[in-house]
Amino acid sequence: MDWQICRFGPFEMRREQRRLYRDGKLLPLGSRAFDILQILVTRAGEVVSHEELIAAVWPNTFVAENNLRVNMTALRKVLGPEGSATNGMIANVPGRGYSFTATVAHQTIEPAPAGRGQIGGLRPLPKPLGAVFGREAALATLAGQIPARRLVTITGAGGIGKTTVVLAASDHLKHAYPDGVIFVDLAPIGDPRLVASAVATALGQAFRNESLVSELAAVIADRRILIVLDSCEHVVDAVALFAEQLLQSTSRLGIIATSRELLRAEGEWVLPLSPLELPEEDADFTAKSALVSPAVRLFVERASAAGGGFVFDDTNAPYVANICRQLDG
Ligand SMILES: Nc1ncnc2c1ncn2[C@@H]1O[C@H](COP(=O)(O)OP(=O)(O)OP(=O)(O)O)[C@@H](O)[C@H]1O
Ligand SMILES: [Mg+2]
Repeated sequence: MDWQICRFGPFEMRREQRRLYRDGKLLPLGSRAFDILQILVTRAGEVVSHEELIAAVWPNTFVAENNLRVNMTALRKVLGPEGSATNGMIANVPGRGYSFTATVAHQTIEPAPAGRGQIGGLRPLPKPLGAVFGREAALATLAGQIPARRLVTITGAGGIGKTTVVLAASDHLKHAYPDGVIFVDLAPIGDPRLVASAVATALGQAFRNESLVSELAAVIADRRILIVLDSCEHVVDAVALFAEQLLQSTSRLGIIATSRELLRAEGEWVLPLSPLELPEEDADFTAKSALVSPAVRLFVERASAAGGGFVFDDTNAPYVANICRQLDG
């Protein structure tokens, strides 16, 4: 497949990888904001209506215009500070929609060749749990660090969003790891000795059990494979040893672990997750301003989905913001 690159001003947008760079630096951009940018850039010079954007970006869900505005604000902020030329690349055409005003140059490049190809029998990735709110910076850092660091551990308290982030990352990283992305949930594993066989099963391989790690290493070899080890906290020592051995005997394998505790493995690079961003303490709370906070957006989505007719408005916005603060994001 050809990879499309679009250049405008100091920016480079890579469609296949869904990444936006400014002067070679990866920018943190949420998935929906990227979709919006992609549509506007493709139709540069035209006015794209709010309805068209909403239908294209959120095809199967009912989404309020507010949601589009929140993502548009985030997108413009990434392009540049308010009033700057790059921020103004997206013009608001009152009553009609948005228009991308910068000149766009298109380029098509061949993707880098994959390793030896996918191994047959790989278990498909689990579906992401739903929309991911915030976490653009963590996802961008992860994508930027994993190829060189090779072993990244996402750490944080229970329920903070480690699995959510790693599932979203697995999806984004499919292009960087063309030989396969494998997700292994270690939560159900009671015996630390079973870590390697859980990975072998996810790789769809039947191995003899005596030298499992070397057999795995021989199959992976120089393939560009990403192994995600989710919920490692109860088997950290076994995972650390397994990761060290496997990384030493392969060349392009990447491993992302999620764990409430560090693995303390050699070469481990740690990405600590902080709580979701909260609304500002002194902001004057309208529903619109509070929705800038990912913690509030998650609350509103879950409360609406729970039924009972919850409607987020200016009256309950300060209370919701307070609950989010008390729950620490
Ligand atoms: N950024 C987010 N956007 C949407 N939902 C989120 C986000 N972060 C967390 N959640 C939701 O919060 C719940 C807990 O998140 P998750 O399972 O990712 O946490 P965790 O850190 O992996 O927890 P544990 O340590 O128990 O494995 C899930 O229902 C998840 O969907
Ligand atoms: Mg988890």
